[in-house]
Amino acid sequence: MGTTISIGVQKGGVGKSSTTCITSFLLAEKGYKVLTVDFDSQGNTTQILSKRDIYSFEDKTVLNAIIDLDPQKYIINVRENLDLLPADDILSTLGNQMGAVTPKRYVPTSLKETLDLVKDNYDFIIIDTPPNLGDLSVSALAASDYVVVMLQSEPLCFKAIPRYLQLVELIKTRITPTLKLAGILPSMSDTRTRIDTSIIEQAREDYEDWVFETVIKRRNRIKEFSILGIQNSTKEDRDALEQYQQFLGELMNRVKKGTI
Ligand SMILES: Nc1ncnc2c1ncn2[C@@H]1O[C@H](COP(=O)(O)OP(=O)(O)OP(=O)(O)O)[C@@H](O)[C@H]1O
Ligand SMILES: [Mg+2]
Repeated sequence: MGTTISIGVQKGGVGKSSTTCITSFLLAEKGYKVLTVDFDSQGNTTQILSKRDIYSFEDKTVLNAIIDLDPQKYIINVRENLDLLPADDILSTLGNQMGAVTPKRYVPTSLKETLDLVKDNYDFIIIDTPPNLGDLSVSALAASDYVVVMLQSEPLCFKAIPRYLQLVELIKTRITPTLKLAGILPSMSDTRTRIDTSIIEQAREDYEDWVFETVIKRRNRIKEFSILGIQNSTKEDRDALEQYQQFLGELMNRVKKGTI
């Protein structure tokens, strides 16, 4: 049975999609069988991993997989060991579509029911989530064993974390008691800047060991991956990926222990 991990926080532009794609890429490189689920209607993860325009997936997305309750039909392979359930902007209509097409099914558990059908085929399922606390975030969390909460080292993202953790608690109480917090990952940090370091320090004070030791720093190469797709051939690529390798080591330890 695969382990399902959501990457989330309701603040936008903090590195959720980049973390989803790079984590998936590195796990697949290590030989794990990985399914990445794009559960954000912006389709950024779809664009980065498939290197295709998201509109080329019209009617062949995770939304169709949920409505048909048949993920296999819509999963595409993007590289060795790495499969993708793509998204386009129609995903934002999940609630309305479910009401119209499958009124007896419940939106918050719809992704879980769908992914349960393929969970045995993978070691890891990694879900990218949108920058809000709406239906899609709820459904992604309800489908997950773990959640990694992103903390861009800037004040507004720091302020968003308590509400996000409240949502995680609510999902645990109401829908998925086995959901666990994997940790809080500082991202897009400029460690030469006083405000960035002080926010990470504050987070370590408030959330203690929940904050990963790894701090994902700003690297232009990560931005370039959104056009080129993820690369691992040059020194610059390796330098950008190295910090994610370190994060992955911590994440694997926490998941293995199963105590988080
Ligand atoms: N470590 C990093 N260094 C430099 N640029 C980064 C880094 N991580 C992400 N970026 C860039 O920052 C922008 C936002 O990142 P990303 O799309 O991963 O965030 P997001 O949280 O998924 O955004 P949204 O909330 O809109 O879905 C992108 O242009 C991405 O390439
Ligand atoms: Mg995103």
